[in-house]
Amino acid sequence: MEQTYISDLGGHVGQEVLIKGWCYNKRSSGKIHFLQLRDGTGFIQGVAVKGEVPEKAFEDADRLTIESSVIVKGSVRVDKRAPSGLELSVTDLEVVQITEDYPIGKKEHGVGFLMEMRHLAIRHKKPGAVLRVRSEAIQAVRDYFYNNGYVLFDAPIFTPNACEGTSTLFSVDYFGQQAYLSQSGQLYGEAGAMAFGKVVVFGPSFRAEKSKTRRHLTEYWHVEPEVAYLDLDANMKLQEDMLCYVVARILEKCREELKELERDLSMLDVVKPPFARVSYDEAVKILKEAGQEFEWGGDFGAPDETVLASKYDRPFFVHHFPKEIKAFYMAPDPEDDRVSLSVDCLAPEGYGEIIGGGQRAEDYDYLVAKINENNLKLEDYSWYLDLRKYGTVPHGGFGLGIERLVAWLCGTHHIRETIPFPRTIDRLSP
Ligand code: 4AD
Ligand code: MG
Repeated sequence: MEQTYISDLGGHVGQEVLIKGWCYNKRSSGKIHFLQLRDGTGFIQGVAVKGEVPEKAFEDADRLTIESSVIVKGSVRVDKRAPSGLELSVTDLEVVQITEDYPIGKKEHGVGFLMEMRHLAIRHKKPGAVLRVRSEAIQAVRDYFYNNGYVLFDAPIFTPNACEGTSTLFSVDYFGQQAYLSQSGQLYGEAGAMAFGKVVVFGPSFRAEKSKTRRHLTEYWHVEPEVAYLDLDANMKLQEDMLCYVVARILEKCREELKELERDLSMLDVVKPPFARVSYDEAVKILKEAGQEFEWGGDFGAPDETVLASKYDRPFFVHHFPKEIKAFYMAPDPEDDRVSLSVDCLAPEGYGEIIGGGQRAEDYDYLVAKINENNLKLEDYSWYLDLRKYGTVPHGGFGLGIERLVAWLCGTHHIRETIPFPRTIDRLSP
């Protein structure tokens, strides 16, 4: 008999099916075993009644422990009380393995223990729901750019140069030469934009973040569109349009997961254009009025972002940051020498910056001066400078951190829940 996945059982009511999976939980009363079964695609209760299944199957059901692997035959019937509306009347059962001493139990475990057991914890409902949202969010982002004519443009991971400052670089020995793990594919994306007009770089980025926060990983997945002739206004529109698309898609496809996570859907339902646009100058005013100790020129800390976000019910933009706190490649504002054509998108509910981007410096001499000012080596950027020598144009893009996006979508407290195997300053395994 062919295997049926639990997610497909709706189309098999009244039929006998074969489920291959694991025992998620079990409850027994002498004559009946209630088996919570999972197969990765979903959960269903299987009911094995003594006398209605072969004697051996009933005894095997009795032996099942949490996470024992098992193949179950049964007929699908409607049960209004079940979360899925379906139940399985077990007709036969075959044990694949009886699991002993499974380390994750019904009792509450500490976060450290669950992270140590991450390879097993991902089988459970809440961690599983977050990772399903992640999968859908990534697919939605990919579809968004594909549907809008972007060319997928992969950037290298080994790089000779810094993109986002030298303080968070992981260095590797590259056959005797110093190389770094990429912090961002942006510089390569810019070359791609000059070749294809609109590209999107999507890959892992690495940051040697020396601080422990709930928003920083050392390895994260980074979506970076880069577009020729994109100005700051159009950049914000692009971010807004993409985020609204992704949120709508998650609301459509991940209802069950969001319910499992007890996510307040009203926080996502309101994510529609337009997003508020706040200049850095205005943001400083807001912070001061709220009693935050903040001086013009500083970068926002998490508490500052939370104060700002408390004013908005959906993501919003902060634009025109001071040049000094942004990367060397940011275009200066021709109308205000203090600031750059930069823009961050901040999520509400304390999730803070989920996107960083802006317009790129297109002038050769300005960029050379900036590279020198930042004590970067000109020869590492010679190819990048070529882009300003041969047909330079105004252009821009942004970088979205997938994990920050997913944390906000799911309402998870800590970013480490949003990637299968998180890497942080104090975690390299499993
Ligand atoms: O603001 P960042 O540093 O900008 C860049 O890297 C640009 N080169 C992007 C571009 O314009 N193409 O990083 C962009 C985003 C942040 O807004 C955040 O979502 C995420 O990347 N991010 C991190 N996510 C998890 N852990 C970290 N340590 C992160 N650092 C940045
Ligand atoms: Mg940033």
